Amino acid sequence: MDFKKMAEELVSKMTIEEKVAQMQQLSENATPKELFETFKKDGKIGSYLHVLGKDTGEFLESAAQTELKIPPIFGIDAIHGHAFLKQATIFPSQLAMACTWEEGVLEKMGEITADEVAADGLNWVFSPVLCLGRDLRWGRVDETFGEDAELCARLGAAIIRGYQKSGKVAACAKHYLAYGEATGGRDAYDIEITERKAREIFLKPFKAAVDEGCLTFMTAYGSIDGEPLTISKRYLTEILKEEFGFDGFVVTDWKNFWCLITGQKTFENMDEACVEGVEAGNDMSMNSYEFYGALIQAVKEGRIAQEVIDNAVRRILSVKARLGLLDEEKTPAPPKECIGCKAHQAYNYEVSVKSAVLLKNNGVLPLKQAKKIAVLGPNADDLPAQYGDWTYTSHRPKDEAIGIEKENEYTLLKGIQEVYKDSEIVYAKGCSVLGSETSAESDLWMQEALELAKGADAVIVAIGDVHAQNGEEQDRAKLVLSGRQNELIKRVKELGKQVIAVLINGKPLELGEMEKYADAVIEAFNTGDMGGLALANLIKGKENFSGKLPISFPYDSAATPCYYNQYEYWHGNKYVDVPKGSPYPFGFGLSYNRYTYGEATLSKTQAKIGDKIELRIPLTNEGDRQGEEIVQLYYKDKVCKTLTPVRTLLDFKKVSLSPKQTCEVSFVIDTNKLGYYDRNCNYQVDEGEFTFFVSGDGKTFKTVNVLLVK
Ligand code: BGC
Repeated sequence: MDFKKMAEELVSKMTIEEKVAQMQQLSENATPKELFETFKKDGKIGSYLHVLGKDTGEFLESAAQTELKIPPIFGIDAIHGHAFLKQATIFPSQLAMACTWEEGVLEKMGEITADEVAADGLNWVFSPVLCLGRDLRWGRVDETFGEDAELCARLGAAIIRGYQKSGKVAACAKHYLAYGEATGGRDAYDIEITERKAREIFLKPFKAAVDEGCLTFMTAYGSIDGEPLTISKRYLTEILKEEFGFDGFVVTDWKNFWCLITGQKTFENMDEACVEGVEAGNDMSMNSYEFYGALIQAVKEGRIAQEVIDNAVRRILSVKARLGLLDEEKTPAPPKECIGCKAHQAYNYEVSVKSAVLLKNNGVLPLKQAKKIAVLGPNADDLPAQYGDWTYTSHRPKDEAIGIEKENEYTLLKGIQEVYKDSEIVYAKGCSVLGSETSAESDLWMQEALELAKGADAVIVAIGDVHAQNGEEQDRAKLVLSGRQNELIKRVKELGKQVIAVLINGKPLELGEMEKYADAVIEAFNTGDMGGLALANLIKGKENFSGKLPISFPYDSAATPCYYNQYEYWHGNKYVDVPKGSPYPFGFGLSYNRYTYGEATLSKTQAKIGDKIELRIPLTNEGDRQGEEIVQLYYKDKVCKTLTPVRTLLDFKKVSLSPKQTCEVSFVIDTNKLGYYDRNCNYQVDEGEFTFFVSGDGKTFKTVNVLLVK
């Protein structure tokens, strides 16, 4: 089947109104009611978003009544499962899943999500998020794969592979480009980067998405050096479409055209904004419903060439063709019963186990048994806090989910109750996440929790943040454990109890006092439906920890950015009042086993640029459990013509080890990948000395050098 030909044939039959309609995407809550109904009846709009399967019928029927019978493509923010639907499988957040460092996990999660989305009658997921979480203040860190471009590129490509495997669902790489790098961590603000920096870091995951065949891209809200990305011909057309060879279509983010006028104030009206935005490379406009009329008018007045419109429509229709939407006989979707089915939930449980990161353990874990366990803390029994953003709890009307039964959703409290069946479990929240003031009511909560802690043999405290502290337009200046959460941990400790702290949150926070008082700290991030059960089994020691951080924790709220791959600089790159670096850096994570690394060796200590070198390192599991260790390989070119980071992640591997087993981990290094972008944006690999760093914790490294020659 030649998809491009199918698209071409349709384009040749279409009126200008039909073409521009294909380029318009609408959602009901962002369009005036009457207008929305008119478009809906007309049946020609190219795409709708946020329509759930149960509501697609009328849209499809009206499209079927038109002469060309082109159905809309339905997009949905299924970014960690088809989570707008209560009964669907809700996976951990993207940040939590990144802690697995396992491409297979992301691929399978993508496949399951796509099956559930397709079974619901939809065909397009606005995922993955390929922005980097480098500024922790930014509200959308939870949606990222963390701070590193290589990890993001590999996990991003894997999830795209999963989403698109069945051929029924399109993925969407977003938000193009560098959205998370906004100055001050302020959502959708201006970004002060150069093209050199964009190439060095931010373009990498998007290039990997193109290479993986990602069918759609979404334009970011922000601007780079004052130029809104929505009108960036350089990034959308010259780099993405021409240089990288992206042949799918680009959709704007929510009302980007409208924002050019009202927010970014670079245009006076839609007439000009839409012309420049489409010429720059946007093929479809999300919302900005004035786009439809304005673009038609612009074509009629000769302000934009027909060919530009035709190209955009060709791209949109060829994606529809590839998904089988234009076929007369549609291949059947997966059965509806797959949505939230037992097999998917079982996999989700595994993902949650692999996503949890053990930050600290003074021996209190595993907690094999206890007569009485006090489960405390504001996030111990709060499903929306556990889910994080982009689920039915954050984005759908409250009453929609009422009455829908869901068997498998485990808060930490429910998980502990199930796993420690023989123990007495008592629960109190102790404090809320928001609101730090002491009041009669909050004193009562605190007292109640402390009373329970007093009488318990073990205390587990779940703290963190809530959805109101994460998400779009919800950037934080203070990255602390808000409210009285630190106080809760401290006061439990003062009772002479050992404290097991579980962080359920959207992003790394300054752990402050809590870290001192807690005997064990587990970072779960937003851990999805099965998180509570997974955490309980990890606490009990029925499962082992293997997750590692894809993002660094700050020593202090104000000491961010604290990502690992900073420049050395000659004044030390530090503050006088806060330690340098990160207490829990990128790559860190403990296990119930201890893993030790031997010395790294290379197959050659001198190599030609272009050669492949093998690095080998012995790895021993000193523990008495089966376990998985994530081995990280970094590199540094010792002298370059531009600044390069202290080290850069080059590769990583997850290795499974039996008790007391030693194995040899091997990496084949392509020396062509050891380059950097010079001041003219040219990628080059220099001659000279390079260091490789192998690490299992992002803090300690085994190093070995190679000399590269021409
Ligand atoms: C977000 C996107 C999302 C879109 C549709 C926007 O506000 O930035 O990530 O896909 O809305 O919901």
